[in-house]
Amino acid sequence: MALTNTALADRFVDGIYEQGLSDVLRGLLYIPRRLSHIWLYDERGSRLFERICDLPEYYVTRTETAIMRAHARDMAAHLGGPLALIEYGSGSSDKTRMLIDALPELRAYVPVDIAVSSLARAARALGHDYPQLAVLPLCADFTRTLQLPPQLDPHMRRLIYFPGSTLGNYEPAEARRLLGAMHALAGPDGMALIGIDLVKERALLERAYDDARGVTAEFNLNALRHVNRRLGIGFDISHFRHRALWMDAEQRIEMHLVSAVPQTVRVGGAVIRMLRGDFIRTECCHKYDAQSFAQLAAAAGWRVREAWSDANRWFSVQLLAPA
Ligand code: AVJ
Repeated sequence: MALTNTALADRFVDGIYEQGLSDVLRGLLYIPRRLSHIWLYDERGSRLFERICDLPEYYVTRTETAIMRAHARDMAAHLGGPLALIEYGSGSSDKTRMLIDALPELRAYVPVDIAVSSLARAARALGHDYPQLAVLPLCADFTRTLQLPPQLDPHMRRLIYFPGSTLGNYEPAEARRLLGAMHALAGPDGMALIGIDLVKERALLERAYDDARGVTAEFNLNALRHVNRRLGIGFDISHFRHRALWMDAEQRIEMHLVSAVPQTVRVGGAVIRMLRGDFIRTECCHKYDAQSFAQLAAAAGWRVREAWSDANRWFSVQLLAPA
């Protein structure tokens, strides 16, 4: 799509959130109450997330970036031939540059993201820095079927790139479905490169999602601002507190917004009552080990070809090939 046309892009994004109100209401009627993590990523949320990436407690981005810097060439050695790179949830495309630099036969880059302005910004910057690369941004929700840009040569080998441990945001069944959709999109000679966060000490994990400066708290609360603005709900931000909890049974961090007071909130025609201490779950961040991830990948038709990690074994980048 022509991202220069902001009005058009805005209408497209509205379309993504079209069924927002009924989905939000349904989520708030579940036990536990939940709000999709996609509400975290409006413009302000995307900027807050970029600040999170620089926080001392948030080891994720730093560690993955170091792995990419150290091993991008080894990764490239597995990826011969003219190549198209398709990135899910590309954001600012920062980590991608290391991969682009290491892949001499890369011809096209398709960044896929739901946040239209950061997508446009990143695509413009990359197009400028890599004039020989076809940069074809796609504003879309990658959990739905992707319509790849028509300019993309259908015979070119495809590498799906899904860094950042964003896969961890999905429950196992949905993660398997997403990996399966990537498998179909990559085709028989395609591959996938997935960043996953590894299980580690609880205190380290909880601090990474509840930083001293409160940036993650602000990021979490912003989901309520976002639904307020887009769906005309009246959540009072000052009545909620951020919390990050490691859930051992599910092997995941959960981000919650905990009600600090008894309150009622109107959502469409319904009234949601919350007692003090009731909470809304806004994000799950699953952590894996080599074995649990290999199993998940296998269930989606992939096998692990190679994996790279850091010295602490905090994070891992996994290269998948069709099984
Ligand atoms: C963007 C999904 C990778 O799960 O670590 C960061 C989001 N949430 N701090 C993550 C996030 C709170 C992040 N991902």
